[in-house]
Amino acid sequence: MRLENETVVITGAASGIGRETATRCAEEGARVVVTDIDSNGGQSVVDEIDDDGGEAVFYDLDVTDSEQFHAVLEEVADSYGLDVLVNNAGTGHPGGSLETIDDSIRDFVIDVNVKGVWNGCHAALPHMKEQGHGSIVNVGSLASILGLPKQAAYSMTKGAVLNLTRAIAAEAGPYGIRANTVCPGFTDTQLLDQYLAQRDDPEKAREEMAEDYPLKRLAEPEEIASAILFLASDEASFVSGHGLVVDGGFSTC
Ligand code: NAI
Repeated sequence: MRLENETVVITGAASGIGRETATRCAEEGARVVVTDIDSNGGQSVVDEIDDDGGEAVFYDLDVTDSEQFHAVLEEVADSYGLDVLVNNAGTGHPGGSLETIDDSIRDFVIDVNVKGVWNGCHAALPHMKEQGHGSIVNVGSLASILGLPKQAAYSMTKGAVLNLTRAIAAEAGPYGIRANTVCPGFTDTQLLDQYLAQRDDPEKAREEMAEDYPLKRLAEPEEIASAILFLASDEASFVSGHGLVVDGGFSTC
């Protein structure tokens, strides 16, 4: 098992990519700390892991709340240690050209997607440094490496996640800490459903989107979870500062 006796904290783990990552990490022997603002969804992930014989606990955690993030990670680190942090929680915004995006929406997306990741790293690093090891996996996006039209705020924040992660890899490497980014292409989750709901014909839009991918389909959340698991585990023991693009070849053509 790839994460035996390790403690993995995952943000936004009640749904989609975070949820799949939580169950996969539990299957690999990790003690999983499921966190989210959606308590019911988060608790259902914990119940599912329990039923399958794994170990998990839920914490209500809004990643924009730095104080709360520090308190949760302190409790986790004191109780079990903190081996892996997956900063997965993220949000999108209604599509529109830059000049039509309201400042409040821009700030909300920055708060969740950038400050949320920053808060997690800020809270985790002292514990990981003290232990002398740790692995941080931040969830970026294809929008970390491409500028998506009508998604300027989202693209800005996901670009920031990639470079923040590189800076952490450079800075914290001497303490035995690795930091990497997973950059998924469109993945079948509720976030994608919300994005498609803005189109006149969401189902047609989904089919057209899939057609643009060389593999002629979108990603499943478990395919992104596999990449997160790889970077989190010792299988990636010499991989740090990397942005792992998981997009079925979209960005290569
Ligand atoms: P999702 O909507 O299924 O899950 C996101 C989770 O984050 C939800 O459970 C939600 O309650 C939680 N969350 C939202 N704001 C939060 C906050 N302030 N604090 C704590 N939790 C919060 O979405 P999905 O697709 O699983 O997204 C996960 C990550 O993957 C996000 O960072 C997203 O930007 C990224 N991503 C998703 C893609 C997609 O096509 N679905 C493509 C590329 C990146």
